[in-house]
Amino acid sequence: MSAALRVDVLTIFPEIFRPALSTSIPGIAERKGAVVYRLHDIRDFATDSHRSVDDRPYGGGPGMVMKPDPIFHCVEAAEAQDPEPAFRILLTPQGERLTQKRVEDLALKRRLLIVCGHYEGFDERVREGLRPCEISVGDYVLSGGEFAAFVLIDAVVRLLPGVLGDADSAKDESFTSGLLEYPHYTRPSEFRGMKVPEILLSGDHAKVAQWRREQAILRTRLRRADLLPEEEKEKG
Ligand code: ADE
Repeated sequence: MSAALRVDVLTIFPEIFRPALSTSIPGIAERKGAVVYRLHDIRDFATDSHRSVDDRPYGGGPGMVMKPDPIFHCVEAAEAQDPEPAFRILLTPQGERLTQKRVEDLALKRRLLIVCGHYEGFDERVREGLRPCEISVGDYVLSGGEFAAFVLIDAVVRLLPGVLGDADSAKDESFTSGLLEYPHYTRPSEFRGMKVPEILLSGDHAKVAQWRREQAILRTRLRRADLLPEEEKEKG
C-alpha cells in the first residue's frame, strides 16, 4: 500500500474535527492507514497574553481580521513536523470553487495543509506570504472554514486507494463520469404503490446498463444541463 496521505488542519476549533474525522469514511480511511490527520490550534501560536488570533481592520470598518503572525507560526511549526512538503490550502469564499476534478488532483498529493479562517477573513499577508491554493466549497459564506475543510477532507479521503469497499463505487457516481447519477432502487420491488422499473428486475445486464446511461443523461439534462457532454447538448 502507498504511504498515507498526511492532512494537517490549522484551526482555532480543533475540537470540532476529532469526532468528525473519526466517523464514517474519514474514520475508516484513518483506521485503514490511508490517511493521517494532524490538528493544530492556531491559538497556541498567539503571541500576546490574551492569546488573540484576530484584530480590528486597518482603515476601519466592521468585523475582525485574522492576524498573520499566529497563522505563519502555526504553519511553520506544522510543516517542521515532517520533511514531506505540504500543499497549502486556504479555505475562503474567495477561492476557486471546489470540483470533483480538483478533489481527484488533491487525492494524489502526499501532504495537504489546510488553514481554516474566521471572522471577516485573513490579513492579506497570509495570501502574499504563504502562497496557498485558495478553495471555496460554494458561493455562500460560512462563519468559518472548519466545515469547508471537512467537506474537502471527506471528498478527498474517500478516493484514496483501499478506502471504499467496492473498487468501483467511486467510479460510477455523480460527477466522476461527468453526469449525475442514475436513480437507484433496492427492495421491496413495490413500496406504497411505487414500483421499481421493470427493466431493473429483468436480469438483462446490457439493457440495465443502457437504461442507467439514458437515465443519467436525462437527469443531468433536467437538473444540470451545464454538465452535459457537447454531443448531448447538441441533441437539445
Ligand atoms: N469560509 C467561509 N465561507 C467559505 C466557503 N464558502 N468556502 C470555503 N471556506 C469558507
